[in-house]
Amino acid sequence: HRRYPTFAPVPMTSRRWPDRQIRRAPNWCSVDLRDGNQALIEPMTAAQKLRMWELLVKLGFKEIEVGFPSASGHDFAFVRNLIENKRIPADVTIQVLTQAREELIARTFESLEGVPRAIVHVYNSTSTVQREQVFGLDREGIKAIAENGARLVKDYAGRYPNTDWTFEYSPESFTGTELDYAVEVCDAVTSVWQPTPEKKCIINLPATVEMSTPNVYADQIEWFCDHVARRDSIVLSLHTHNDRGCAVAAAELGVMAGADRIEGTLMGNGERTGNMDIITMAMNLYSQGVDPELNLAGMDEIIETVKACTQLPVHPRHPYAGELVFTAFSGSHQDAIKKCLARREGDETRPWEVAYLPIDPADIGRSYQEVIRINSQSGKGGVAYVMHADHGYDMPRWLQIDFSATVQAYAEDTEGEVGSEAIYSLFQETYLPD
Ligand code: KIV
Ligand code: ZN
Repeated sequence: HRRYPTFAPVPMTSRRWPDRQIRRAPNWCSVDLRDGNQALIEPMTAAQKLRMWELLVKLGFKEIEVGFPSASGHDFAFVRNLIENKRIPADVTIQVLTQAREELIARTFESLEGVPRAIVHVYNSTSTVQREQVFGLDREGIKAIAENGARLVKDYAGRYPNTDWTFEYSPESFTGTELDYAVEVCDAVTSVWQPTPEKKCIINLPATVEMSTPNVYADQIEWFCDHVARRDSIVLSLHTHNDRGCAVAAAELGVMAGADRIEGTLMGNGERTGNMDIITMAMNLYSQGVDPELNLAGMDEIIETVKACTQLPVHPRHPYAGELVFTAFSGSHQDAIKKCLARREGDETRPWEVAYLPIDPADIGRSYQEVIRINSQSGKGGVAYVMHADHGYDMPRWLQIDFSATVQAYAEDTEGEVGSEAIYSLFQETYLPD
């Protein structure tokens, strides 16, 4: 373990983010079709990309990174398909990624010909490891790549005056970059672009590799916000990866620390351990009374589409989305849920206060039938709930105790889950024999 040094804290004399709350949703940018796609065993086909695109639009994403058209013929063709077949709604902006090299930037603009508006996202790597070991360049050399890329993007944009362009720059590997140097590079980029409060550019600070605890990342963001030039002309964007399992926490703390925008993917697909999961962060906001400005009411359709497009499973315990996350098998949990739900009956306007259920499953299109499921660990509350909700029987307490013992014995014998119909048959056999 001594091969891995501790990540140095950011020298902050005071910090604002720990006292903040997130009061409004950040601007979301989906990178499912780029970062998500580039990490797949089998990249999405054209049909899968289109299906994912349509889902993202339906969910309400206003910014969608659709590919890396200078690096992939498939991505180039996909961008052309969106533009030529007029598939981009008036309130949606596509974003494309490019490295800071002239031939790639030229090809990127070629892919975008005729688009009404677009974000051109240019990046180069800035960390000490990348500078010293991958590029063999010093600080000035790497900064020159960024500046040159910014200049080229601006020049090429000028050749396509009918498009409304927004420019985005990422110091890739930001989390391994000295903060003063990250600021220096980003300042160099914005001094080329000359953004204004009316026409902002996007500066995106990726945790390309998640290297520290989320509080350190939040400190990095706050420090950057306090030191970068032209802050009022910049949309400060974050792009976290999940190497330490904290991408959502890092993004949330980063927003508290001053960021305006988040790049991520549905269910966290993306390089290695994935990108920040937008579903989880959006639902975290929702469960705190903040409108996530995404329509996540049809979670099953989202899961089905993500699985069909990525060929990856969604874990049954995935926050908010997994098929088991609102299900209780154990007796004490079932009893508590049943009591809380019963209190709500007839007054659904009450604030949501139900033990063990952080949100109302109905809000994401799930039914209560899935909440209480019966196996050998279940008790009288669960069995009574199923008999009431599915079969219309309100059992007195003595019968709940008596019948749940029968169901439990049956579950132990069969060693599995006992479905609602099987429970009803047991009830009939026990108490209503013909
Ligand atoms: O993770 C990363 O740094 C990226 C950049 C290209 C933004 O995906
Ligand atoms: Zn990434």
